[in-house]
Amino acid sequence: MDRRREAIEAPEAQARAKQHRRGKQSARERIDQLLDPGSFVELDAFVRHRTHAFGMAEKRPYGDSVVVGTGTIHGRRVAVYSQDFTVFGGSLGEVAGEKIVRIMELALKTGIPIIGILDSGGARIQEGVIALSKYGEIFRLNTKSSGVIPQISIVLGPAAGGAVYSPALTDFVIMVDKTSHMFVTGPDVIKTVTGEEVSFDELGGARTHNKVSGVSHYLAQDEDDAIDYARTLLSYLPDNNLNDPPVYASSTQLEITDADRRLDRLVPDSTTQPYDMKTVIRTVLDDGEFLEVQALFAPNIVIGFGRVEGRSVGVIANQPAAMAGTLNIDAGEKAARFVRFCDAFSIPIITLVDVPGYLPGTDQEWSGVIRRGAKLLYAYADATVPLITVITRKAYGGAYIVMGSKSMGADINLAWPTAEIAVMGGQGAVNILYRHQLAEAAERGEDVETLRRRLADEYTYSVASPFLAAERGELDGVIEPAATRVEITRALRVLRTKRDNRPAKKHGNIPL
Ligand code: HXC
Repeated sequence: MDRRREAIEAPEAQARAKQHRRGKQSARERIDQLLDPGSFVELDAFVRHRTHAFGMAEKRPYGDSVVVGTGTIHGRRVAVYSQDFTVFGGSLGEVAGEKIVRIMELALKTGIPIIGILDSGGARIQEGVIALSKYGEIFRLNTKSSGVIPQISIVLGPAAGGAVYSPALTDFVIMVDKTSHMFVTGPDVIKTVTGEEVSFDELGGARTHNKVSGVSHYLAQDEDDAIDYARTLLSYLPDNNLNDPPVYASSTQLEITDADRRLDRLVPDSTTQPYDMKTVIRTVLDDGEFLEVQALFAPNIVIGFGRVEGRSVGVIANQPAAMAGTLNIDAGEKAARFVRFCDAFSIPIITLVDVPGYLPGTDQEWSGVIRRGAKLLYAYADATVPLITVITRKAYGGAYIVMGSKSMGADINLAWPTAEIAVMGGQGAVNILYRHQLAEAAERGEDVETLRRRLADEYTYSVASPFLAAERGELDGVIEPAATRVEITRALRVLRTKRDNRPAKKHGNIPL
């Protein structure tokens, strides 16, 4: 018991004091908050580093710079590691690396999610190449575990240099405003090499990674918020790729409710007027509960988790209230990775469509909208989970196809009567189809704009009507908006036993 006091209790008291001074919790406090009370079983608490260089032999704290173990969240088993910044700045040397590798291997072997809490100065400078090598092993295990067990990274301090790539390889990265930082090269190096001056926070703070780079999936206000989000996120996920996500009790009714009827009045009369697609999302999901992912990045597409009849679903929806819901590179990549995640972990996908097309511009073309936009096509085409798509308004051109259309492999495709499905919008189509007539009308001094509008309306009515798409089998039905929740629920029931196989191959070659 003396050894335990020496190894855990005394250093823990010191760690708490140090971390609290910085407004942070200790590595063990964070684990205790993440897991169900009393469920944590610590492993490898007695290991110590074996380095002699730089006077290290004098300082060999038990457990080294990371706390690892297993426990439960909402009663379900998880594996966890939490870096201890009070020991060599949470830096990763041989022994800390071995601890992380061992807990990751245990998670993979037993098919349980792994959660990493990161707070580290990166590779331990005193230990040199062996520290780098341990990072390599962690990256390889992250990759081996990808699509087998859910991997969540909670970054609660620095994650510098190549160390950022472990969180980047995991499924979800959670960061805290002001206190989390991730960057490959820090402000000092940047200043030396390029002359640019940038603060830690601007360069790699939580806001930057949530809004600009898309590295992070949730901007937490503080550590409590970050840990809460991780716990909630896990409630939607299965333990591993061979298990289904947990099923919760639900009181879903198959009758149209007053809340459902509000959707009948949602889409404005003018097709260019925005509305909030999250209203549709919340109406469809149990208790209106939607756990949004990457809310601040590419807000023109919305992704996140919810439940229908107590079962997890992933939602992907164009957002007319942001950039008119156009697709751009960021939106495509955000949605593509989400489709891949849901597909890997047996989570059915509901796609809600109101997309006028791809965002035009040299910036998009030269940044690779072809190569990077192809990811979303690949992700949908490769998905074998149930796919249900509802078109609420616009679905034009390539954007129609990519957003879970029938031809991309969706199982049930529905549309509201307000849907417009065509190669392009009425105005654009008329400008091409009636170019000569419009020019002649202009020469005759007629009101060209009125003529253009009339022709565009005719085009939309005759070509873009959802009934035409239904006639061609591109839609399985045209439904009243109020019936959306009920119809999605019915479709999910039918698709519960869906099986769909792909030809055996080593792996595909997704455009990266
Ligand atoms: C050993 C380290 C360390 C490291 C910090 N410490 N980083 N010890 N190896 N990488 C130690 C400090 O010496 C200090 O020890 C204690 O941790 C706390 O650090 P401070 O600097 O006092 O804290 P703070 O001011 O909060 O700054 C935190 C920090 C800074 C921003 C992380 O420490 C820092 O810049 N560290 C170096 C980061 C870095 O360049 N790492 C290598 C990245 S390359 P004492 O004893 O004084 O308390 C990399 C490659 C990975 O990681 C490759 C993977 C393929």
